Amino acid sequence: MTDRFYITTAIYYVNGSPHVGHAYEMIASDVVARFHRLDGRDVWFLTGTDEHGQKVARTANDQGKEPREFADEIAAEYIAMASLLNISNDEFVRTTEPRHYDASQALWKAIKDNGYIVEDTYGGWYSIRDEAYFAEGELTKGEGGKFLAPSGADVEWVEEPSFFFKLSEFQDRLLKHYADHPDFLLPESRRNEVVKFVEGGLNDLSISRTTFDWGVPVPDADGHVMYVWLDALTNYLTGVGFPDTDAESFKKYWPADLHMIGKDIVRFHAVYWPAFLMAAEIELPKKVFGHGFLNIEGQKMSKSVGNVLSPDALVETYGLDPIRYFLLREVPFGQDGSVSHEAIVSRIDNDLANDFGNLAQRVLSMINKNCDGTVPEPGELQKKDTDLIEACENLLDNMRAWIARDIGLTKCLTEMWRVIGDANRYVDGEAPWTLKKTDPDRMKTVLFVLAETVRRLAILARPFMPDSASAMLDQLAAGEDARDFAAITQARLKPGTTLPKPEGIFPRFVEAEA
Ligand code: ME8
Ligand code: MG
Repeated sequence: MTDRFYITTAIYYVNGSPHVGHAYEMIASDVVARFHRLDGRDVWFLTGTDEHGQKVARTANDQGKEPREFADEIAAEYIAMASLLNISNDEFVRTTEPRHYDASQALWKAIKDNGYIVEDTYGGWYSIRDEAYFAEGELTKGEGGKFLAPSGADVEWVEEPSFFFKLSEFQDRLLKHYADHPDFLLPESRRNEVVKFVEGGLNDLSISRTTFDWGVPVPDADGHVMYVWLDALTNYLTGVGFPDTDAESFKKYWPADLHMIGKDIVRFHAVYWPAFLMAAEIELPKKVFGHGFLNIEGQKMSKSVGNVLSPDALVETYGLDPIRYFLLREVPFGQDGSVSHEAIVSRIDNDLANDFGNLAQRVLSMINKNCDGTVPEPGELQKKDTDLIEACENLLDNMRAWIARDIGLTKCLTEMWRVIGDANRYVDGEAPWTLKKTDPDRMKTVLFVLAETVRRLAILARPFMPDSASAMLDQLAAGEDARDFAAITQARLKPGTTLPKPEGIFPRFVEAEA
């Protein structure tokens, strides 16, 4: 049976348009999904939109729209963004779909049947922006002594009849799970925070609301809608066919291998979600990864500050693959980082145009000019030749390990660029333009070694820059069926193959006229 891999992004609130932080998460997840596919796995990649809750209802109301109409508009923007960014998701769940209501209500019933839901009255602080409850001890004081959530958002006092999830009963089981599965939550720093939080004791969680109705109705309880986070987290089950646990997709893909989310929602995914699943007796996901936050030139991105960078503008200005590369290369994956025009241009000009682009371009042009535009026949290979060719095999093994545990996407790119640097130094050292006169056979060997190295690098680059890497493979006349990781060692270039006329793949950035 083929190895399978189920990966999800968070689902995106439809209270506002997509920004570069959302694009970042989708792209990082897409790279992981593509990586596993190229490595021969059967991948299921899910993303979607989170459309219920007081925040969405309020924003819709402020715009004079019905929540559903408003949600339709913004959900369409996320769907368009996924396509703009060349995201290879297999499924897109909208939480307003009937199948998701079925999944959420089934999960509710399973938790209730097992005795973990009780009815009571809730009195406490709620932040609409975070869609989260807070204990008074977690709040800070803002201007005029007003309470604020840890995120800085306003909180309001809520008092209403509510169903509670008996989260307090899961403290020991959660702590045991973190201890038994050290890779369940990464990076390490986020894991430590969560462990500390759970060790501090857990309160039961209010999981239904009665003061508004934009949510999934609680089964058999008129007037109650589910707490938006309970419904939202359930999307990961909806996306593989739950509540039909006999469905092919559910049997094949659940439990999820990776929930890719941002650091601000780790508590929901690493505390509430596993507790809900334990309560319903459903297997837990294998890993939650809390990536860092992006900000724009050092400022936090927010609608109020007015510096929300649109993914459309980024792609239009710099091109899609350069942006995909930049986002994963510039900020060590897992940490926070910033986006600036200067940093993007520097990556485009140095890493893409000068390093990778120029390597491919000069090798292919020399072959075009000096070998009749066909893959040259190599003579006997020297150690330095095989070292370069084999560097990509070692790199692939390392990439597998980095991605499997710590989602080390930046590490993959840094090390790939080390091999690109070695290849460029090999070109300079071997000087094929001189060999042309002194030792034409050796020139052919050197150009073969380089073309083969570029082919391998292009395959390794595919998850990150799918279109550019494909264009590079086109120029090497690589067969459509010889572009996955197995083809790195199994589909060497064949001497004599005619190559198309080379064209530059990574142009330098040209500043637009003011
Ligand atoms: O939290 N940089 O939705 P959301 C990096 N609906 N990542 C960022 C970011 C930034 N500046 N801003 C947001 C929600 N994100 C819920 C999720 S999942 C069952 C429900 C990330 O639209 C954020 O951390 O506010 C989250 O992973 C995702 O974008 C969606 O954020
Ligand atoms: Mg958010």
